[in-house]
Amino acid sequence: MKKRYTLEQKRWDDPVDHSMPEHARVPATLTIGNVKIAPATVLAPMAGVTDTVFRRFIKNASQFTADTASANVEQATTNQQSGCGLIMTEFTSADGLSRMRETKRKRYLTYYDDEHPISAQLFGSNPETLADSARIVQDAGFDLVDLNLGCPAKRVVACNGGSGLLRDLPLIETIFKAIRAAVTIPFTVKFRIGWNDANIVCVELAKLAEDCGLNAAALHARTREDGYTGQARWEYIAAVKDAVKIPVIGNGDIRTPEDAAAMVDATRCDAVMIGRTAPSNPWIFRQIAQYTASKEATGIGTYDKPTNEDRYRMIRTYFQMMVDEIALEEQAEAARAAAITASGQIARDQRHRDCVGKMKQFASWFTHGVPGGSALRKQIFDAKNGAAVLDAVEQFFETKAEAAEAILV
Ligand SMILES: Cc1cc2nc3c(=O)[nH]c(=O)nc-3n(C[C@H](O)[C@H](O)[C@H](O)COP(=O)(O)O)c2cc1C
Repeated sequence: MKKRYTLEQKRWDDPVDHSMPEHARVPATLTIGNVKIAPATVLAPMAGVTDTVFRRFIKNASQFTADTASANVEQATTNQQSGCGLIMTEFTSADGLSRMRETKRKRYLTYYDDEHPISAQLFGSNPETLADSARIVQDAGFDLVDLNLGCPAKRVVACNGGSGLLRDLPLIETIFKAIRAAVTIPFTVKFRIGWNDANIVCVELAKLAEDCGLNAAALHARTREDGYTGQARWEYIAAVKDAVKIPVIGNGDIRTPEDAAAMVDATRCDAVMIGRTAPSNPWIFRQIAQYTASKEATGIGTYDKPTNEDRYRMIRTYFQMMVDEIALEEQAEAARAAAITASGQIARDQRHRDCVGKMKQFASWFTHGVPGGSALRKQIFDAKNGAAVLDAVEQFFETKAEAAEAILV
């Protein structure tokens, strides 16, 4: 079975709370090549998490208009589409992609029209396969292609992919050039600061990226050996920003709008990228957008905080989207083939298991610290399929609503 990162293993070690800096805020826009991103916020790629359903869920949860703003905000300064400017696929193996049949590729690279602008992330170490895969990504209509030089997972590093490549800058240069020559869409790189403290290469690597014609660089400010421990070292984002003219996207340990503005303040990065916070607080992008817009309009930055009821609504919406997506896939399959083959049935069963697995993973992140959260978590963990998970959420809601009514009476 495919081994996944889990959110559980990657909790924050010892999070630092930042206060809101007086003058800094996340920029309203960012341009990467010819792609305009507004606002300058990016949902980080997360294997096993950022599939099409999660990406659309986050974009919807980030919706932000003047009507929902907590301050009197000019329409022009709000983002009517979404507070999350750019979304990315989870990493996809270039070797796998270039070997796959057309139909399977489509499944890996599934996205919907309302996901633009969207970037597809690739990993691998073979320049030709990576270039071929980048072409596939471009032909599939993605707005950008990204190269992963940050993944610390052993199975990826063992093939010299992800952060494994950080020890071989000459090979990185060959890969950069091969991909650059293969596609015309903007090409970006996401990397860590180095393999370990004895091998910090982020500034050199960012300059190489710029020299090879890449259009932006996103830095998760930890080494491979750091994994997810300690604090992200934002000073390296500042060092990279000082060294290159291409846009620099800062990443690591943003949990609140205050953290996002503090990162911009400390590093002058052109955009912020957020990973682990998105599943535990899907409103993070909307909150940043609200803060930015209200600060712009009134001089005082404010943002809404979700109520517990909002949180339960949110979990129900996400789970319903997951169940609907499976139903859509099954309808499409039924339209293609008159009868479901045995291997088709195995794939279906696996998809249902994956869906329930993701629901459980999400529930464990999303219900921590919420009254009654542990009871709901238990019910979700005992559920056998997507419908049963939805029932559990529904029942929980009803009990809560009844309790609230009883208090009002
Ligand atoms: C579950 C999980 C899966 C991840 N998968 C990827 C991936 O596919 N590609 C990648 O570049 N980074 C991946 N990352 C790293 C994140 O994109 C991000 O760099 C990291 O979580 C630090 O940002 P944060 O502090 O905002 O979470 C993953 C992280 C987590 C927690």
